[in-house]
Amino acid sequence: TRNTPNLNQPREQWGTRFGFMLAAAGSAVGLGNIWRFPFVVGEGGGAAFVLLYLGFVLLIGLPLIIGEISIGRKGRSNAMDSYKVIQPNSKWYLNGFIGVIVNFMILSFYSVISGWALYYFILALTGNLLANEKNYENAFGGFITDPIMPIVWQALLMSIVVLIVLRGVKKGIEKWNNILMPTLFVLLIILVFKSTSLENAQEGLQFFLQPDFSAINSGVILAALGQAFFSLSLATGMYVTYGSYKRNENSIVGNAGGIVFLDVFVAILAGLIIFPAVFHYGIDPGRGPDLVFITFPYIFTDMPFGTIFAVVFFFFVFVSALTSAISLLEVVVAFVKEKFNLSRKVAAPVTGIVITTVGAFTALSFGPLSHITLFDLTIFGLFDFIAAQVLIPFSGFLLCIFLGWVWKPHEVKLEVEKEGNKFPLFKLWSFLIRYVIPVVLLVIFLDSIGIL
Ligand code: PFF
Repeated sequence: TRNTPNLNQPREQWGTRFGFMLAAAGSAVGLGNIWRFPFVVGEGGGAAFVLLYLGFVLLIGLPLIIGEISIGRKGRSNAMDSYKVIQPNSKWYLNGFIGVIVNFMILSFYSVISGWALYYFILALTGNLLANEKNYENAFGGFITDPIMPIVWQALLMSIVVLIVLRGVKKGIEKWNNILMPTLFVLLIILVFKSTSLENAQEGLQFFLQPDFSAINSGVILAALGQAFFSLSLATGMYVTYGSYKRNENSIVGNAGGIVFLDVFVAILAGLIIFPAVFHYGIDPGRGPDLVFITFPYIFTDMPFGTIFAVVFFFFVFVSALTSAISLLEVVVAFVKEKFNLSRKVAAPVTGIVITTVGAFTALSFGPLSHITLFDLTIFGLFDFIAAQVLIPFSGFLLCIFLGWVWKPHEVKLEVEKEGNKFPLFKLWSFLIRYVIPVVLLVIFLDSIGIL
């Protein structure tokens, strides 16, 4: 029937050993590292926030990624049906469904910000980004408050994403990630050297690296947790979906470790690039979502070969956004395709159009709709908050209970150890998953809604 996963049809698979790893890292590394990380660090008061984030990544992120990949590879289905394969006749699949909703919500606003990145890349490419007057706040403000332009760029970006997802796992997603990901790392490293040699770089580095624990409160803790999850693409069904195309011979633990390393590495590099510059140019680090788009043009204007660096950098932002947007769409498409028995050719554009339409409202919330707020948040802020700080951590909590108490650690171990692979520190993993992570998540939740 329609509702049970089809296990007879051969499932798409990654083409090479590195397919899964690069695609999942491509999903994890994105605007979350380059655009979101710096501004939430800025809002969260700097280095103490960074430490919390790192703690959450290692203590909660890594163990959950291992579990989430295992669910996908065992279930070999979309984010929701994989749960059904593992626990038939239970309601756990609803957690997978939350993931599909989360991806839908994130892509709605993610496509808008990715559209900004695409626009800035084209501006740089055509030589129209840098100017001597350096009025970058106004230039950017004018663009994002425009009632039409941001939507045009969002739609353009989404068309590219749809075209890649249309081509399927091997020829689309994998091929592009293999080309795009390695380029990113090289570019970032060059920029770190540039930025840390700016005058006053010291002050920025201090803000980023020297913790002031008085800045920590329950809001900051929840924000750091949300950032860790968002940045890793954790508990969104991405690892289940991409893991479902994974070959058995690849090490799940090794891949998870690699993904976490790359993700943290890029976020730290982004911080090392942006904060020295923010202090050098006297920009407020807590100014919010436009931080990256304003700071970088300043850096490039004052740099030898700045025009070229601007092109390269915004290409990088655009590309890393693209590989994440691809994963966001793929999770929803894999679901729609299997649920409604549609081909990729139909599912991808239809899903893309619906998401773009909903997303247009988040785009407008920077301009014509900025007066519409709820709990002091704009439509964009609300989408981001609900997805990153409410639904994802909540779904992560359920994921943890599922792994530790329903599917159970020894079953996860069997999946991880297929084809002679190892599960190092399994005992520690099991302890974290069963006792530590659920309690930590619960405490943070209760704390953030003021119960503790
Ligand atoms: N991890 C991505 C980033 O840091 O930009 C964003 C993201 C992608 C979140 C996919 C969630 C997701 F499922």
